[in-house]
Amino acid sequence: MAIESDVAGHYGSAGIAERILAALKAANGADAPITVEALAVLDHFHGRGIVATQELVELLKPRPGEHILDIGSGIGGPARWFAAKCGVHVTGVDLTAEFCAAAEALNRATGLADRVTIKNGSALALPVTDNAFDRAYSQNVIMNISDKRGFYREAFRALRPGGVLALSNLCLGKGGAVVYPVPWAETAATSFLVPQEEMAADLRAVGFAIISFRDTSADIMPAQMRNRERLEREGLAPLGTHLIMGERLLEMQINSSCNLEDGKVATIEALVQKPG
Ligand SMILES: C[S@@+](CC[C@H](N)C(=O)[O-])C[C@H]1O[C@@H](n2cnc3c(N)ncnc32)[C@H](O)[C@@H]1O
Repeated sequence: MAIESDVAGHYGSAGIAERILAALKAANGADAPITVEALAVLDHFHGRGIVATQELVELLKPRPGEHILDIGSGIGGPARWFAAKCGVHVTGVDLTAEFCAAAEALNRATGLADRVTIKNGSALALPVTDNAFDRAYSQNVIMNISDKRGFYREAFRALRPGGVLALSNLCLGKGGAVVYPVPWAETAATSFLVPQEEMAADLRAVGFAIISFRDTSADIMPAQMRNRERLEREGLAPLGTHLIMGERLLEMQINSSCNLEDGKVATIEALVQKPG
């Protein structure tokens, strides 16, 4: 599918885990252990990093031993965090082959390979069986998906009856045309932002019951502004998500924050349930 190969091409590059492990050694010392905490500064690949993943844990409330699906798992930071902190088994599915390879290398480096399984595949045809997961989450992925209902239908299929899905997503705001490039897309050709009302309607249309649905833009704005000001003043820090995507991320992150500050995008947090 043309969109998917363009999206994977946008994110992927060779040698991601090698770059990350070399940068960690340089910063922390050659003998420093590779832990989820040490990686957290760079392996949660979304605007608010580890803080957003911790909020997702609070929202999803996984119980030890449960099977959790991460849709669009990136290089696996959130999946490793859930596995290490909540005692769950996580299956991550991601489109970008180089991200999956990096995730697997970092799973091994952190000793979590037996609790985090990575599959290279599409959210629109999840390589998992029906009703297999107690809970699922997807963090900053849906804006790359044109067929929103196809995405929600697949998540619905993968969850057991009564299972819940937590979503962190970006929606279209009312502030006018979005400025590109942003971390998830070079141009509007692979960015599919919809108004938040449409997101809620699509979730209901495939059968989910909405437990909570919240526009978090105002809550996160002050920290986003501080982060943008720091990036403009100081540039990229030695350890950060630019080790995944390169220095072009500086402009992308600044644009992303400006889009939020100008009301062009809105951040949405949702918890929905497959009826039991
Ligand atoms: C901004 S990154 C977020 C990664 C991860 N969720 C995180 O929070 O660290 C977006 C991810 O979505 C993945 N993605 C985009 N479209 C996808 C699709 N159709 N199926 C599976 N993964 C997809 C990309 O490969 C990328 O890893």
